[in-house]
Amino acid sequence: MLKKETMIRSIDAMHPNKLEIDLAADLIRQGGTVVFPTETVYGIGASIHSTEGIRKIFEAKGRPSDNPLIVHVASLEMMHPLVKGPLSPRVISLIESFWPGPLTLILEKSKNVPDPVTANLDTVAVRMPRHPVARALIEAAGVPIAAPSANLSGKSSATRANHVIDDLNGRVDAILCSDGCEIGLESTVLDLSGDQAVLLRPGIITKEEIENVIGNIVSPTSHEVSDSVPRSPGMKYTHYAPKAPMLMAVGDLASMTEAIHAQLMSYDRSVRIGILCTDETIGGYTDENLVAISLGSRSDLRGMSSRLFSTLRSFDESNVDLILAESFPEVGIGEALMNRLRKACGNRILNQESTMDERPGIVSMSSR
Ligand code: TXA
Ligand code: MG
Repeated sequence: MLKKETMIRSIDAMHPNKLEIDLAADLIRQGGTVVFPTETVYGIGASIHSTEGIRKIFEAKGRPSDNPLIVHVASLEMMHPLVKGPLSPRVISLIESFWPGPLTLILEKSKNVPDPVTANLDTVAVRMPRHPVARALIEAAGVPIAAPSANLSGKSSATRANHVIDDLNGRVDAILCSDGCEIGLESTVLDLSGDQAVLLRPGIITKEEIENVIGNIVSPTSHEVSDSVPRSPGMKYTHYAPKAPMLMAVGDLASMTEAIHAQLMSYDRSVRIGILCTDETIGGYTDENLVAISLGSRSDLRGMSSRLFSTLRSFDESNVDLILAESFPEVGIGEALMNRLRKACGNRILNQESTMDERPGIVSMSSR
């Protein structure tokens, strides 16, 4: 694509400057693309009513056009016209419990949502973010804003201004830089378009928290959902891949670190190896050829999740040849963290465990 002039502005997260917001909102209304922070990750936004703006989002990301976008709203008044019929009690209770916040709801769409936004599906994904800059921008634009995560397709979502600028400077009309992508993983996506609620993407709002509000929900991998078509088109694409190949060690802490150390022994010292580890284990990775980065303490799943994407991008900046990652218990928030980590390493497991033998894509790396 042709490189364009990108307006880059720093915005105070808590008190967004009105003039800057109004300028960005004008761009949105005129069919431009504006990158803005949310409490999860940065998004690339355009008005759902601008065919040109929506086309530019797909072009800027290099995103396949069959992968639908989430529509961001600032109020229920803005949301109602997007969906078919009145909201069900189930939807109302979820909105009351979790909005504004990191929960995306998939609902039957109305005729007001143009097909390119939803990749021709008859459903629409809606979310009301709580980041003050996102809210101010949507309110000032006065139109729902379609926004996927602000990264080149296939790369980690961006949670920091410099990562957005690396990926999208020259590809979008404006970038609003700000603090406050405090969650660091994308929103939980819940499909409510059928009778059975389906968790399409785990996030910081966990399955258990949702079940406390609406009762039993299922995950698409579960045998309870008999559907050969992927429910969320985005699930079939590569995600979050760092530049270097990444392998994940599984099992308890002792077997994971043992597997990583055994693997390290098989490499020449000239190979630069990134280690994605934790406060509890970083002390064990001291060799000069290692770039060990801790996600934080294992007791702080939320903190570790918030640092995952920026850490994956630091490995790119350190030019490592290979990344070896520890893994985490898949409970609560750990489900979201592990979902992103598995995708980032393409499901490649370093040490096979009997309990994991149904996982696809296991490889053994030979030493180089
Ligand atoms: O936290 C987030 O959700 C961020 C911020 C910017 O809001 N956005 C985000 O968007 O992660 P994106 O496009 O990177 O991921 C949206 C996911 C994709 O996997 C997409 O396929 C799925 O939601 N999706 C969107 N609309 C859908 C629909 N109508 N039915 C099923 N899946 C849908
Ligand atoms: Mg994304």
